Amino acid sequence: MRISIIVAVASNGVIGRDNDLVWRLRDDMKFFSETTRGHAVITGRKNYESIPGKFRPLPHRMNVVVTRNTAYEAPGAQVVHSLEAALKAASAVGVEEVFIIGGGEIYRQSLEREDVKRVLLTHVNASPEGDTYFDLEVVESGWKRKSLESFEANDRNEFSFEIVEYTRP
Ligand SMILES: NC(=O)c1ccc[n+]([C@@H]2O[C@H](COP(=O)([O-])OP(=O)(O)OC[C@H]3O[C@@H](n4cnc5c(N)ncnc54)[C@H](OP(=O)(O)O)[C@@H]3O)[C@@H](O)[C@H]2O)c1
Repeated sequence: MRISIIVAVASNGVIGRDNDLVWRLRDDMKFFSETTRGHAVITGRKNYESIPGKFRPLPHRMNVVVTRNTAYEAPGAQVVHSLEAALKAASAVGVEEVFIIGGGEIYRQSLEREDVKRVLLTHVNASPEGDTYFDLEVVESGWKRKSLESFEANDRNEFSFEIVEYTRP
């Protein structure tokens, strides 16, 4: 099973604020949706709760929520209590790929794992204020970089952005 991170990051490393995203990028949402569809996604409890109720669990993919709260319930999703257990749960259902979809705390722990081989990173050309960050230096220092697609700012996308695939050397 391939383990990938998927994330959108501002030039200053910001990924979120007040448990929400800090931009509206419809084409990036589309890329996220199409890329993760049919696979499994692993999310921290806070990120999961930031998804509007009518959109969660994310449809057409296995949703795994990580929390330390053993009483936590997320109908339609699988609840686990460590990142390791989340990966095991995805592996157990036989998906080819699992995507770690955030937020900041879960990304931080995932980047430390040798078995996370790929990061699909949307570089957003903006420097918004925020309270949650992704460490761009990790992938920008030594991972193999392949640009996949670029988008201009327009009525669908608040800022221009580039989707880049980084693979662990
Ligand atoms: N730009 C992007 O691509 C992107 C993507 C995703 C999220 N975000 C943003 O990121 C922010 C949320 O990130 P966050 O760092 O605040 O929270 P988070 O990573 O989504 O969730 C943190 C929670 O996950 C659980 N957790 C973390 N590590 C664990 C472990 N090892 N074992 C068991 N449970 C663990 C804990 O839940 P309990 O407290 O329940 O124990 C912890 O409070 C939001 O602003 C969101 O919009 C941005």
